Amino acid sequence: MTIIVTGGAGFIGSNFIFHMMEAHPDYRIICIDKLTYAGNLSTLAPLMNSSRFRFVKEDICNREAVYDLFQQEHPDIVVNFAAESHVDRSIENPEIFLQTNIIGTSVLMDACRKYGITRYHQVSTDEVYGDLPLDRPDLFFTEETPIHTSSPYSSSKAAADLLAMAYRRTYELPVTISRCSNNYGPYHFPEKLIPLMIINALNGKPLPVYGEGLNVRDWLYVEDHCKAIDLVIHNGRVGEVYNIGGHNEMKNIDIVRLICQELDRLGKTDNAERLITHVTDRKGHDMRYAIDPTKIHSELGWLPETKFADGIKKTIRWYLENEEWWDNIIRGEYQTYYERMYGNR
Ligand code: NAD
Ligand code: DAU
Repeated sequence: MTIIVTGGAGFIGSNFIFHMMEAHPDYRIICIDKLTYAGNLSTLAPLMNSSRFRFVKEDICNREAVYDLFQQEHPDIVVNFAAESHVDRSIENPEIFLQTNIIGTSVLMDACRKYGITRYHQVSTDEVYGDLPLDRPDLFFTEETPIHTSSPYSSSKAAADLLAMAYRRTYELPVTISRCSNNYGPYHFPEKLIPLMIINALNGKPLPVYGEGLNVRDWLYVEDHCKAIDLVIHNGRVGEVYNIGGHNEMKNIDIVRLICQELDRLGKTDNAERLITHVTDRKGHDMRYAIDPTKIHSELGWLPETKFADGIKKTIRWYLENEEWWDNIIRGEYQTYYERMYGNR
């Protein structure tokens, strides 16, 4: 079995490759990644000498290169993680989001049609459903919830989902889609809430909470997401969407406080909560995400294994033990981004 994983030098893609290499010792994995600011080859360094792994630095929008690769490797399965993934960057500049997230997806699916595959899996997001009100805790996103996007990021992901469904219906491409809630865990890029707060607290920098910090996200440990995708690509029904989430809703401010308390407890910070700074809210900021995972549980038997209380401790420990990984990032181009995003906020 040969699997092409796109975006495998990023957060979830790299965790997925590690999971698949271990869970399926007879599979060959080919990672295509453009190595944008969010891609980090050092993450995949432990796999570089494996005969079951190949890394290809390429843009999924490059049709000729993608076709060449399919011709050489004849993959059985393609799992598409490659994307521009940060909402704030999409608000600053939508264009690259449309390019990678929409055009890139269509190029990959065209290659699948041309060379033949058994499964194309599109890694999507719960953000395609828009948001839920804070005063209706009884409401959840199901696979039937209408698509109703808020940001250029979520709109580009929704467009990709619609294209995937169109390729299924028009060309009978064997497609599945998964829509997951917010992930956290090792190798999460420092621009995102949890790693940003851990790293800023360790460096004694302000902890920028957007608005009141009352927005709710439904957090899932990244390994649980990877296991869910493994199940969907092998046992999921073609043409179906599967929502992935672990019923773990938390307000942003509570997450930030919890990180501060854990770092204080470990003796890494001293009253880190004093660094919390409320800053101008994100434009069009979604209030609440909450996934109903009934379908993937009842059809495929998936349940999350890591409780948030354990997962967040493991994650904080990982950032403490892997300072070199994130320090290299925050010393680079990230500084310019950080200044632009938070300088005058
Ligand atoms: P990430 O930003 O950490 O990684 C994205 C990776 O894609 C990077 O390695 C980058 O170099 C690569 N990439 C970007 N453009 C490319 C292109 N044109 N060609 C080839 N490679 C390219 O993202 P992530 O958080 O790991 O998210 C992965 C996928 O999961 C995305 O599709 C995202 O929409 C989806 N998702 C993320 C979350 C989350 O909480 N992070 C939740 C649900 C769904
Ligand atoms: O729900 C799935 C989505 O989760 C994925 O599709 C996206 O790729 C992923 O980036 C994530 O999107 P969010 O916008 O929810 O994640 P982010 O970490 O950027 O922000 C989480 C919440 O924290 C959000 O309400 C905004 C807030 N926030 C974020 C940052 C970076 C802050 O308050 N301060 C910050 O500095």
